[in-house]
Amino acid sequence: MQNLTSKPSKTERPYDPEDWKRGYGSQPNEYDYAIADIDGTIPPDLEGTLFRNGPGLLDIGGLPIHHPFDGDGMISAIAFRDGRAHYRNRYVRTPGYLEEQKAQTIRYRGVFGTQKPGGWLANAFDLRTKNIANTQVIYWGGKLLALWEAAQPHRLDPETLETLGIDDLGGILEPGEAFAAHPRIDPRSQFNGGEPSLVNFAIKPGLSTTITIYELAPDGGLVHKHDHSVPGFAFIHDFAITPNYCIFLQNPVRFNPLPYLFGLCGAGQCINFQPNEPTRAIVIPRDPKRRSHKKVLEIESGFVFHHVNAFETGDEIYLDSICYESLPGVDPQANFRDTDFTVLEPGQLWRFNLNLTTGEVKRQMVESRCCEFPTIHPDRMGRSYRYLYLGAAHQPEGNAPLQGVLKVDLETGDRQLWSAAPRGFAGEPVFVPRPDGNSEDDGWVLMLVYNSETHQSDVVILDGKDVNQGPVARLHLKHHIPYGLHGTFAKL
Ligand code: FE2
Repeated sequence: MQNLTSKPSKTERPYDPEDWKRGYGSQPNEYDYAIADIDGTIPPDLEGTLFRNGPGLLDIGGLPIHHPFDGDGMISAIAFRDGRAHYRNRYVRTPGYLEEQKAQTIRYRGVFGTQKPGGWLANAFDLRTKNIANTQVIYWGGKLLALWEAAQPHRLDPETLETLGIDDLGGILEPGEAFAAHPRIDPRSQFNGGEPSLVNFAIKPGLSTTITIYELAPDGGLVHKHDHSVPGFAFIHDFAITPNYCIFLQNPVRFNPLPYLFGLCGAGQCINFQPNEPTRAIVIPRDPKRRSHKKVLEIESGFVFHHVNAFETGDEIYLDSICYESLPGVDPQANFRDTDFTVLEPGQLWRFNLNLTTGEVKRQMVESRCCEFPTIHPDRMGRSYRYLYLGAAHQPEGNAPLQGVLKVDLETGDRQLWSAAPRGFAGEPVFVPRPDGNSEDDGWVLMLVYNSETHQSDVVILDGKDVNQGPVARLHLKHHIPYGLHGTFAKL
């Protein structure tokens, strides 16, 4: 077993940092066109739409935002029909986006350090937040929803991407209640007659933290909703599910709000990682009648944004997660475009084995290559599974931008890799099962790749069974899409 505290070796860069940087240019334009410039062949049985979300603006009226996580959400929709593809993008017209675009200046402080012009005096005690709707986009209950974890979803027209307004999910969300950006879909929920359920959560942080769990039926109706209190401040971005449980990792952090209150930095920059404190695994029964059976297990320190999957065997839960040695800091003075990847810790894939009877936790590194943004076959969510796909660095050691896709076979240990290095930079892969597919990896891996040579983005389609062979189709867009966050595929 490797150790989380092992240092990454510094390797020669397989990319030019100036190339990487250009992918973070704003894309203020909105497009609508059939994609004509294609290498290879779009599989004719790939039918549906890849919706993607991410920060589209890295400046407002020429004023740079401090961190991409503060950027206004821009939705891209790549629709596949009859072996052809269509591209469309639209900004989520949030109230803050409309106000700032009209004023052509920054009117809201960002969680990750974006400040209004005028120094600390202009920012002190302004605690308003802008719902930037920039993290995920899902289709559920007949609604296309842009998500941002600290607030309510924005509903969009799935065809035109027009913003229809804030959506409280038919009254499920009360005023002020949030809806996280990482819902999980249980393909066969025991709480919903074996039908699929969307399971999501919300965090209300404070001296103690309230975790709200939502479970929604395919028509968007509420299956159940329940609150749980956990001690201490919690910064939780993602979670995992099994048929019986929701699993959260409470990273060891403390929050000192004073610099934020006094206008010196963003709230997210006041979160300090505590390397000498344990991470807590919080295991909450999905059945609200079993709410008293909540378990808290301590594991060795580390920081997790994203989980791959979890599953149960007897009284044990296996949890697969992308772990960092510590929380990558957001320096109030530093420009994210100047990030030196070689001095940061890589995200690496770990498996945690949580014993609910004894409280014992074992852990093992599964993949040391720098990776993020895992995706699996949707039918395996919450169940034992064999294959996963990750955005991955080109080289096997050290930290670096994602430049390709890594397929991991958990049964045999085999790996497959396709990389767009040296001039291509990757985002999140999304696995799309082939209709009537005959195995867990029978499908396609869709991914946006920024091509720094042309300053344009490509939609890449890989065969899920054979990632090594490279794209079966590469669709060249007419423009670039700034590096994004998450997306989903819907049969629309
Ligand atoms: Fe995320």
